[in-house]
Amino acid sequence: MALKLEPGARLVVATHNPGKARELAQILENRFELVTAGELGLSEPDETEQTFVGNALLKARAAAEASGLIALADDSGLSVAALDGQPGVYSARWAGPGRDFGVAMRKVEERLEEADSRDLSAWFTCALAVAWPDGPAVVVEGRADGTLSFPPRGTKGFGYDPIFIPEGFSETFGEMDPTAKDRMSHRARAFEKLKAALL
Ligand code: IMP
Repeated sequence: MALKLEPGARLVVATHNPGKARELAQILENRFELVTAGELGLSEPDETEQTFVGNALLKARAAAEASGLIALADDSGLSVAALDGQPGVYSARWAGPGRDFGVAMRKVEERLEEADSRDLSAWFTCALAVAWPDGPAVVVEGRADGTLSFPPRGTKGFGYDPIFIPEGFSETFGEMDPTAKDRMSHRARAFEKLKAALL
């Protein structure tokens, strides 16, 4: 049986962050009735996998199992070529308990200095997983390639945006108009794939 999402279906978004749920609803063009894992009082599983796909699946499966609803989860992060793909799935954790991305961006810069590499290429990845309560799941991955630039520039984005220049552009994601970022981001690319697979 092909896995399809019917318009109007009730979905649980495996996030406790209302902003993320809103962003997901917008990208899904408000086709579904969304509730968040936070609203349902579900606990957040530890992100124990070593890949974005693994963590997105783990979060979607946990929410589907606990709620009995179809669940959508994402996992994303920045990978730096000269650091063997770090921080990768540890992107949020590099910002420390205070979630200070100034700290995280300085850490990337310091590690690059230690690595003594001229290669500044990097990419963002977003994995999106949809899991059904009775077991099946679909997972896709989107990627945006670019180059790192220091010092950080721009205040329009979040996370590592101020040090990331997407391929073919001269502004960082932090300087760029958010609608321009949304057209080319790893998240937008993953959503295109998810829509093609499920809608
Ligand atoms: P997650 O919530 O576990 O998926 O954490 C992903 C982390 O990767 C976030 O805390 C961000 O710092 C970083 N990240 C993911 N997507 C982006 C982006 O589009 N711009 C900047 N940072 C991002």
